Amino acid sequence: MNRTPLVAGNWKMNGRKDLLAEMADALAGYAGAAEVVICPPFPYLAAARSAMPETIGVGGQNVSEREDGAFTGEVSAPMLAEMGCGYVIIGHSERRALYGETDAAIAGKFARAQAAGLTPILCVGETLQEREADSTVEVVCGQLQAVIDGVGIAAFARAVVAYEPVWAIGTGKTASPEQAQVVHACLRQSLAENDPDIAQSLQLLYGGSVKADNAALLFAQSDIDGGLIGGASLTADSFIAICQAAE
Ligand code: PGA
Repeated sequence: MNRTPLVAGNWKMNGRKDLLAEMADALAGYAGAAEVVICPPFPYLAAARSAMPETIGVGGQNVSEREDGAFTGEVSAPMLAEMGCGYVIIGHSERRALYGETDAAIAGKFARAQAAGLTPILCVGETLQEREADSTVEVVCGQLQAVIDGVGIAAFARAVVAYEPVWAIGTGKTASPEQAQVVHACLRQSLAENDPDIAQSLQLLYGGSVKADNAALLFAQSDIDGGLIGGASLTADSFIAICQAAE
């Protein structure tokens, strides 16, 4: 099955108006085959939507698992949708580790995102300790299954999953293409046990120190359909080079 490659830039708490302008200019000239999404911080989402070409998706980096209401500091899924987002990152390891997001909360966010018409980009990944204890597959498939159990497999017909080993995020230590492929194949197998068609069509991204010079080999793996890019999404040149590597 031919899956369209997808490259998403996760700016985290980085990037200001000047980066938005630089990226919009660079992406205006991008006519490659990959789907491209940028996820700047909340205050820049509306500006990103108006600055970016229509073909470029815009996504949030987090969303509330609750409906609108008295939840100071939270942002709801319908708000993201109304501001022109098509995607939202859910369950990034920084949210799990620093903000205590549980599998249950992540499943709740996933459900809210979908109900508002957003495509969730669900992140899963193991820590270095878990890898060294040989529990990588158990951990990442467990994180995935927890959401499948919470929202139902049918919801994954419109979703993206990103495998992001925690030890590779922002560290410069990328998983080798072979290491990443092994985990991607297990994730796809887990999905297939729930629904073979969804497993075949779902875009599975790799994230963790993807750079312009290692992207092509990672993306060449049969179960890797693109990337979730942190640091290298903060300059237009490297981000565009990664998009090109995904084509
Ligand atoms: P990195 O981050 O590319 O800077 O390692 C990836 C991510 O956390 O999504």
